[in-house]
Amino acid sequence: MDLRPLAPDFGAEVLGATLIDVTERDDAYAFVRAAFEEHSVLLFRNQQISDELQAAYSRRFGELEIAKVASLGEGTPFSILTNVDRATGALVAPDHKEALRARANQLWHTDSSFKAQPALASVLSARTIPPSGGETEFASQRSAWARLPEDMRARIADLCVWHDYAHSRGQIAPHLASERERNAMPPVCWRIRWRNPVNGRDALYLASHAYAIEGMPREEGYALIRELIAHVTDPAHTYLHRWQAGDVVMWDNRATMHRGRPWPDNLHARLMKRTTISASDADGVAATRAPCSGETVGRVLQAAG
Ligand code: OGA
Ligand code: MN
Repeated sequence: MDLRPLAPDFGAEVLGATLIDVTERDDAYAFVRAAFEEHSVLLFRNQQISDELQAAYSRRFGELEIAKVASLGEGTPFSILTNVDRATGALVAPDHKEALRARANQLWHTDSSFKAQPALASVLSARTIPPSGGETEFASQRSAWARLPEDMRARIADLCVWHDYAHSRGQIAPHLASERERNAMPPVCWRIRWRNPVNGRDALYLASHAYAIEGMPREEGYALIRELIAHVTDPAHTYLHRWQAGDVVMWDNRATMHRGRPWPDNLHARLMKRTTISASDADGVAATRAPCSGETVGRVLQAAG
């Protein structure tokens, strides 16, 4: 088993271990788990993927999230990202909810930071790949933390950040987060820094769901959030993954941001399936939970359902 770097700052391709190996063998799991903690984004090529294998592989790392309300895959461990209408097999119109969701996924984000139980990792498999575009781009919030000037790190280290699913969706369309989704997912607050409990390395923890900083005027907090996202996603430090058939990519939501890239979605189908592994206290959740309450910073975007 071996690793090959994907980018200068982070990311590795796993060689000599398949998803089946990790599912079946403790030594392969231990190797890949250590690589995940260290490199944040892992690529497996040429996998014989199936829903069963993806779920069994993912289950090795912890509890699986059940897909959130009103998303494709609701009630199952699979979040389905596609522009194909299940019922008709046709490509969806540009104003269809799934087309808008794809655009929301094209904002730099980390999965599930808006949930009361955040995500350790996501596992994404490409099932239908368009002939152009549709890449997935990654940035390291760990490398970004290390690249911040010392005085900036000291200034922000103890801040807490509010996250809201409705905020990121509101950037695409005012009613994209439904009333049901909004009610199911009220804003949550996390420390701005997630310390990896295995290696002690810090990462910024924010992205498109972040809308306010505890104890800061709204505008000032949001300006700082935007400044930090721009810092994390400096193009000199990102990794663009071009999908090939058989690829499976796994990332650490505690230490990275990602975004989907556009493709000609009026012409070509794209279908991706994601499983998401919940973070536990052993992964650093309790230590990252912010000591603030929902009364201090309320919801910003109150779009009626
Ligand atoms: C995801 C995601 C981006 C993409 O599955 O969480 O953001 O490229 N995907 O499909
Ligand atoms: Mn995502």
